Amino acid sequence: MSTYDIAIRGGQVATSFGVTRCDIGIRDGRIAAIAESISDAAQVIDAGGLLVLPGGVDSHCHIEETSRGGYTMSDGEPQVTVNEESFVTASASAFAGGTTSVVCFIPQWKGFGVWERYVDARKRGETGMLDFAFHQIISDPTDTVLKDEVPKLVAEGVRSLKVFLTYEPLHLSDAEYIKVLLTAREHGCLVTVHCENYDAIGWRTRALLDAGLTGPKYHAWSRPRVVEREATHRAIALAELVDQPIQVFHVSCEDAAEEIARAQARGVKVWGETCPQYVTLTAADMDRPGFEGAKFMCSPSPRDTAEHARIWEMIRRGTLDVVSSDHCGFSYEGTKGKGSSGRDASFEKIPNGIPGLAARLPIIFSEGVSKGRISIEKFVELTSTNPARLMGLYPRKGAIQPGADADLALWDPKKKVTITNALMQHAIDYTPYEGLEVTGWPVTTIRRGEVVMRDGKVQAEPGTGRFLPRGPYDMVKPRGITPEGFGA
Ligand code: URP
Ligand code: ZN
Ligand code: ZN
Repeated sequence: MSTYDIAIRGGQVATSFGVTRCDIGIRDGRIAAIAESISDAAQVIDAGGLLVLPGGVDSHCHIEETSRGGYTMSDGEPQVTVNEESFVTASASAFAGGTTSVVCFIPQWKGFGVWERYVDARKRGETGMLDFAFHQIISDPTDTVLKDEVPKLVAEGVRSLKVFLTYEPLHLSDAEYIKVLLTAREHGCLVTVHCENYDAIGWRTRALLDAGLTGPKYHAWSRPRVVEREATHRAIALAELVDQPIQVFHVSCEDAAEEIARAQARGVKVWGETCPQYVTLTAADMDRPGFEGAKFMCSPSPRDTAEHARIWEMIRRGTLDVVSSDHCGFSYEGTKGKGSSGRDASFEKIPNGIPGLAARLPIIFSEGVSKGRISIEKFVELTSTNPARLMGLYPRKGAIQPGADADLALWDPKKKVTITNALMQHAIDYTPYEGLEVTGWPVTTIRRGEVVMRDGKVQAEPGTGRFLPRGPYDMVKPRGITPEGFGA
């Protein structure tokens, strides 16, 4: 009988603390030992010439998020619609790209509660292979939801509430946002925020449509940087008023990041996330012929190449400390995705969001580490350790240390790959990164001590993904400081 189930030998183990040549011993799905030499194992994996990274943690993924599409005639039950991507296909995509855990979303349909949606989302999550946790979207913060249902969800291990300051019908007023912040404060949750100004975008959208400017490229015109900056400022100011920690999702520009930096300098507990699209795509991508621009449509809008450099600077400064994919499963063809309102639909009718679960690590490694913009340690922090910390999953996830889940990506830092949709292994019929050349690629992914991807071949049993309940954690504790000393 061997001491370890698996030994990973000869790799350069990369964590947020440094890169060291050592072996890793895995037993019962966890990291059991890290030493100069480990050989007494049932299976030996040679990691010579490779980096050994903690499996990616993607803390912002939209997977099998149900929406309500009217009522069936017979029983008055709402019809449920989802797009093509399932937890099974998303798991394959994640493993293909070196990611082993995600935090995804429980929807709230306006006029409905959230508990039933949690039960449904949990069942859906358990069909996949990825380990998963949830943010609860709050789009209708009634007393029943906030006072009765949220405490039950927290007891189940759902420790973050997601709010939108734009989008019909999801957006919250300031008064509703404050109610959510107060609820989160009471129950020890993080609040994650989509920061764009709903009324400003609405006004601008109507003006564009009235002027006959309807193509996909006008999506970017409808939501310039200033609407993101304003909402980011407001989201932070109200969180500061209530003394509730928040994470600003998908920061696309320096203007918004500067609001975060200023608040961080005051000691406010606010963190900033960005995504690969904000260092690779531009608004010009939405100006491709015909409907093609819809493939790049997400919110906030991608900006321009000068903005990419500013986002890297904000990453280096630490203002933006998490890179998530904001993965969305909308296909280009068919009726469930980008073309759901027809090929000549005006921009405001095209679903927002793009796929990126598999591409996230390779893009950030290539654009970041291979091009000399960030260190390997910073890469690990951004894509694994920091999201795990902020979501209360660390050190079970995001770490290579004894006791942590044995979630690893064996990474070839020199491998050159041209991204194609087939390599993404998702159920979506396109990738916005088609043709992008990257240096650095995962060759093996290990989830809880099981090889789930080797040389691009995903080999994991559906139904093996585990729900990750999250308990109380320090990062989201309020500071105990309120303006003028009065409040929450
Ligand atoms: O365009 C985007 N980002 N779609 C996904 C939903 C969201 O806003 O996070
Ligand atoms: Zn969003
Ligand atoms: Zn999102």
